[in-house]
Amino acid sequence: MVNRDLADMRKDYALRKLMRSDLNANPIEQFKSWFDEARQSEVYEPNAMALATVGEDHKPSCRIVLLKGIDQGFIFYTNYQSRKGQQLANFAFAAATFWWDKLERQVRIEGQIEKIDPQTSDQYFLSRPQGSQIGACASPQSQVIESYQKLVDLKEKIDAENLTRPNFWGGYRLIPNRVEFWQGRQNRLHDRFAYEHSSETGVWSINRLAP
Ligand SMILES: Cc1cc2nc3c(=O)[nH]c(=O)nc-3n(C[C@H](O)[C@H](O)[C@H](O)COP(=O)(O)O)c2cc1C
Repeated sequence: MVNRDLADMRKDYALRKLMRSDLNANPIEQFKSWFDEARQSEVYEPNAMALATVGEDHKPSCRIVLLKGIDQGFIFYTNYQSRKGQQLANFAFAAATFWWDKLERQVRIEGQIEKIDPQTSDQYFLSRPQGSQIGACASPQSQVIESYQKLVDLKEKIDAENLTRPNFWGGYRLIPNRVEFWQGRQNRLHDRFAYEHSSETGVWSINRLAP
């Protein structure tokens, strides 16, 4: 029954279109303008993105993280010793995907990963609510723990008066070399434009892709 229901689940997208003439020459600027629209719409957590990394065994792994800054790349924060952190230490490339349902839009970003500078991580860490700071210090992210109580015990051991960013926690920057903007259209004839960066010329090319 579930499979039957799943097979029948579909929506048609008709809100908008995306034309080549709508696009900024720079995909980061294009992202910013779409992100502003997503913020203004009713999208829940518009800065949530699925982040895919690759393990030593060449197998992909994917989870949601929050976008926390945009400069020449896309910045997110996490535990450097987590599963994703270990995967990124081994293979510094990642892919991120946003889905903004209210706008019927998807953005896909692919590129190289680097750690951001420690001072910026410090600043961001200190700007977080104290509970989040304690959580970041206390949680051995991705490790097996025997119980929730164990986590509470770890939290109790943190000195809340003297919090500084632990060196196992900080930001990464995803520096894009490919960014794709997808706008849902009727009858699955969606608009897709892919930007690709040439490392030789430094120029972004833009191509429409078949949906
Ligand atoms: C909405 C949402 C936002 C999240 N944001 C973050 C984040 O910014 N950083 C982070 O490390 N984990 C975040 N998480 C948790 C991750 O999805 C994941 O469970 C965690 O990072 C461990 O992943 P890993 O074991 O693959 O390293 C978020 C989860 C959700 C559902």
